[in-house]
Amino acid sequence: MKKVKIALLGLGNVGRGVWMILNSNKEEIMKRCGYEVEVVKVLVRDKNKPRGVEIPNELVTTNFDEILNDESIKIVVEVMGGMEPAREYMLKCMDKKKHIVTANKMLLATGGDELFEKADDKGIMFNYEASVAGGIPIIKGIDESLTANKIETLYGIVNGTTNYILSKMELEGADFDDVLKEAQDKGYAEADPTSDIEGYDAQYKLAILASLAFGSKIDVNNVYREGITNIKAVDMKYAKEFKMGIKLLAIAKEVEGKVELRVHPTMIPKKHPLSNVYDSYNAVFIRGNAVGDLMFYGRGAGDLPTGSAVVSDIVSIVRSNVETENSNPVVKNNLWKREILELGNIKSKYYIRATVLDESGVLGEITAILGKHNVSIRSVIQKGDEEDGQVTIVLVTHKTFENKIESAIKEIKDLKSVHNIDNIIRIEDFK
Ligand code: NAP
Ligand code: HSE
Repeated sequence: MKKVKIALLGLGNVGRGVWMILNSNKEEIMKRCGYEVEVVKVLVRDKNKPRGVEIPNELVTTNFDEILNDESIKIVVEVMGGMEPAREYMLKCMDKKKHIVTANKMLLATGGDELFEKADDKGIMFNYEASVAGGIPIIKGIDESLTANKIETLYGIVNGTTNYILSKMELEGADFDDVLKEAQDKGYAEADPTSDIEGYDAQYKLAILASLAFGSKIDVNNVYREGITNIKAVDMKYAKEFKMGIKLLAIAKEVEGKVELRVHPTMIPKKHPLSNVYDSYNAVFIRGNAVGDLMFYGRGAGDLPTGSAVVSDIVSIVRSNVETENSNPVVKNNLWKREILELGNIKSKYYIRATVLDESGVLGEITAILGKHNVSIRSVIQKGDEEDGQVTIVLVTHKTFENKIESAIKEIKDLKSVHNIDNIIRIEDFK
């Protein structure tokens, strides 16, 4: 059996998963790709750290040059994360014509252009299946299996931490802060959860998916982002009354030639399959003009699920023959120039929760303003839970433009009878 030598940059959660899979499924992998995949070096920061896997000492190094200068290493797997030195190391390896596999969504979304260009220039393969939705084969799904389609819409639950928190809030009526703390205690959420709960992680992932889906390199700054920190238990309660759930949804749509891109908490009907994706699971729902609706579902994080995606990328490279230079240029996500639809011009239904004075005419004033801005109301709930002369009202609108809602809300906030606009959540009807 021929051998292909590879190196890992990083032996944390994902690196450990890759190591375990390459060892436990060695036979299967050999049969599937015709080569024995051998890890010959692993880069870490601290050689003495316990790794939770048995790995020969002589393989572990803190010196990147040992990997860079070893010509027998054909594939380098970057699973260290962060911007630097991951970016620098990958570029240097590409210069040496080493094929690259990475799971680094942040780097791909924010500084990926340089890496894609270098990979093209050097004619090496640059695979990144694990960067979005962990073990779900969504990158290859879009890039290989859906190439016959124009992708019309893509909706993703692509962050496990926030889906876990929102699931607990929905199913157990828990409060955001309590669930976050519990998730951190159990090690599901990171000690610094900002990237997850503020939606940055999902924003990176949507930029990667939309670039492939629409064949146009999406600048991550063109993806509108809102996190879930403003979602309260009471919003979950009202959502339930409207037969909906709340998810942190990554949305990409083609609208009249432009591309609409946004990540924010979204109310979705309970009857939609995405609404029933609970806990830390991820799912991506795609509509292609030939295939129709598709949903990909599975584990979006964790050592083995993410390792599964990384190893599949290694196998793809080996199968396409690692010895061949210029084997597979990676210009896949910048085929066309696309205009981005401004957030003000997106259309959605809206849930608006407000605290108002319990006086006659208040609802009339609000609905008059909405009417003036051509916003039509679908339902109104006013609860009899009066406190200090104030009550909660909840309005759900018909589909309208975001800029109309914005202008109406600005005026509503100025009403003396309106104490506070407590929350506004976009509702997705998947039409
Ligand atoms: P992690 O547990 O923090 O592991 C990072 C590894 O990289 C550690 O072994 C660390 O070495 C090594 N490392 C970091 N900086 C280094 C440096 N400057 N020089 C040498 N070694 C360095 O991270 P992870 O969770 O495995 O994530 C890795 C990547 O996969 C990230 O890009 C992440 O976004 C992505 N990802 C992760 C998941 C997941 O479920 N965790 C899912 C999808 C994608 P030491 O151990 O010696 O400190
Ligand atoms: N922090 C990410 C999540 C890990 O919660 O989904 C996987 O990318």
